[in-house]
Amino acid sequence: MNKQTTTLPDDAEQPMIVLVDDDAAVRKATSQWLTLSGMSVKTFANAKEALQLISTQINGVVISDIKMPGMDGLEFAKRCAEIDPHLPVILITAHGDIQMAVKAMRDGAYDFIEKPVEPELLTDRIQRAWEKRQLIQENRKLRRMVDRGASLEHRLLGRSPPIRQLRQQIVQLAATPVDTVINGATGTGKELVAQCLHEWSPRAEGPFVAVNCGAIPETLFESELFGHEKGAFTGATEKRIGKIEYAMGGTLFLDEIESMPLKFQIKLLRVLQERKLERLGSNKVIDLNIWVIAATKVNLENASAAGDFREDLYYRFNVAELFIPRLNERQQDIPLLFDHFAQKAAYQFERPYMPPTDDDLASLIEYTWQGNVRQLKNIAERYVLGVGTTRSIRSLLGGNDATINASSSSGLNERVQQFEAQLIIQSLQKHKGNISEVMEDLALPRRTLNNKMIQYEIKRKDYH
Ligand SMILES: Nc1ncnc2c1ncn2[C@@H]1O[C@H](COP(=O)(O)OP(=O)(O)OP(=O)(O)O)[C@@H](O)[C@H]1O
Ligand SMILES: [Mg+2]
Repeated sequence: MNKQTTTLPDDAEQPMIVLVDDDAAVRKATSQWLTLSGMSVKTFANAKEALQLISTQINGVVISDIKMPGMDGLEFAKRCAEIDPHLPVILITAHGDIQMAVKAMRDGAYDFIEKPVEPELLTDRIQRAWEKRQLIQENRKLRRMVDRGASLEHRLLGRSPPIRQLRQQIVQLAATPVDTVINGATGTGKELVAQCLHEWSPRAEGPFVAVNCGAIPETLFESELFGHEKGAFTGATEKRIGKIEYAMGGTLFLDEIESMPLKFQIKLLRVLQERKLERLGSNKVIDLNIWVIAATKVNLENASAAGDFREDLYYRFNVAELFIPRLNERQQDIPLLFDHFAQKAAYQFERPYMPPTDDDLASLIEYTWQGNVRQLKNIAERYVLGVGTTRSIRSLLGGNDATINASSSSGLNERVQQFEAQLIIQSLQKHKGNISEVMEDLALPRRTLNNKMIQYEIKRKDYH
């Protein structure tokens, strides 16, 4: 008798066994033995029913008797192989049926065991099949990750080593989401990375709720995030669902987390730890199912050492920390990003796209991109729009100031116009094409704003 260890080690993942046999007594005995050996078993009296369960997702092994009324084991093994050619199916054959078993193996069955089944031998064969199955599943998972990484390349562009690494980290984190913080200077792509994390995660179908912690007045923080019941405090005339609750089943993106008021940080920490939420003025506890991703421009470790950020909250987040380098630290990505944004703008604005000259590219690469990718995107758009009189990239880059860089080779009037157009575009971008907000931002009456947009051929629809 085979004396090898037949039970699986405690820490190993256990296989799920699909057991098909029309004989109730055999089913019961086999299932008991396998359960004792630490496996979970699903039993079926007929193959047709069992087939419903078969998929490429099965983390386990299939065992089937051959002689059964209705669909027999041979047919069943064949059908299983059609669904997943790498799913191990072990057939139980009657004594002397070797030829039939050989044929079955050719048709896709993985292995066969002769009756009467020796329990130890069965667990041993299952163990071997399971090891193989795990390898297959692991490979498939890796391949899926590679495929997903490849498509991420079209969303988060860049071929520089840090961006490649970032994409890998995104795919990995998205598979096993833990609360994450994204660290990067202004315009480096923090929000884009957060969106990618969400979209590549199993929560992709759920909501992505972005909260800019720097933009919420301290007094409103709690009700904005937690929500409140009607009458919870003076002025709470209606019930309000907080941002945290809106993110249920999805992702909560806390932008500029460094500007979160200290006294609120402790509350957030509690939410992160307990995954529970109470609206203000309510004692009903809501179980939270959210992924929290934060973004920051500052070094949180320093901030917490300086007492500006709670240390415990920092430790909570630093388990998964992603760094996005400045654009100047990955110069090789500049031409590719410029090309991407310019082509997109050309398509959106229905303008021709003239690729930049080598000289232009050199200027782009050497430029100090204070505003990082967002600034590069602005320049690419303006290059395509041909705002002002010239398309020269060098003139667009002009001075080193990120905002006042109208062409220095043109006259005062033209420069003022370029600057004006640029401010309007920036404001439109910032307010996602909301004209009232742009009017307020630039303190312009609607008619003046309209006229200027017509003059500079700026279209609202391009910005929302
Ligand atoms: N690697 C990239 N590939 C493609 N687009 C990018 C990339 N990085 C950034 N972008 C684009 O650049 C713009 C700025 O990115 P985003 O808003 O994510 O930056 P941010 O770090 O959140 O900026 P801020 O610090 O101002 O909040 C967006 O339009 C974004 O889509
Ligand atoms: Mg941002």
